[in-house]
Amino acid sequence: VVATLGCCIASFLVCGIPFGLLIARGSEGHVDVRKVGSGNIGMTNVARSVGARAALLTFLCDAGKGVLCTIVARLVIAAVAFGGDASMVAPFTPFGLASTLVYASCVLGHVFSPYLHFHGGKGISVGFGAGLGMYWPVGVGLLVVFLLFAVPSRYVSLGSICAAASLPVICLALGFGPLNTLPMAIVAVVVIWSHRQNIRKLARHEERQFTVRKGGER
Ligand code: G3P
Repeated sequence: VVATLGCCIASFLVCGIPFGLLIARGSEGHVDVRKVGSGNIGMTNVARSVGARAALLTFLCDAGKGVLCTIVARLVIAAVAFGGDASMVAPFTPFGLASTLVYASCVLGHVFSPYLHFHGGKGISVGFGAGLGMYWPVGVGLLVVFLLFAVPSRYVSLGSICAAASLPVICLALGFGPLNTLPMAIVAVVVIWSHRQNIRKLARHEERQFTVRKGGER
């Protein structure tokens, strides 16, 4: 329990790092992504307001922190509680709640970033990365749902919302069981809530389709 709690706190703090904001600020134009486009600090808004390279870097850093935290947490919890046997904390096992709690801490750390007065991003890239790190079929499942909706519509937010909604369904289908899936369901609700402005815009047909700022990186 202590190891899980420690890993959750550490994951919250690490995943709270707003890479999109830092990368955009460090770009040539010193862009504050909170003041342009959708105001979000994620990859989509960095693509829209800075450019492709910065967006790719944002995605890699945001997804990467999720991968890193979930893998390190699993190893730490396994070392402390199960003599190093990481299979004991797989999310579909009786002790798998530890893994799904760490997953939730990663996404919540990004959405409620402690470094931005608890106003962070929308949790999609980190949720994907943390899914891959926790149990790769979760990440793959999220990616498939995301692409299924985002590619034909060109609305990243639509793909994101559908992927978030599918998260608890994917976990149940993979045999996590109701208790281990509970943190994932909470994450789904929080991520959909973080897209409330996008939902309003989608309903009014005012949502922006995916664009990449061209003409050189700012
Ligand atoms: O992951 C964020 C995406 O779903 C929406 O981003 O900037 O269009 O609000 P944005």
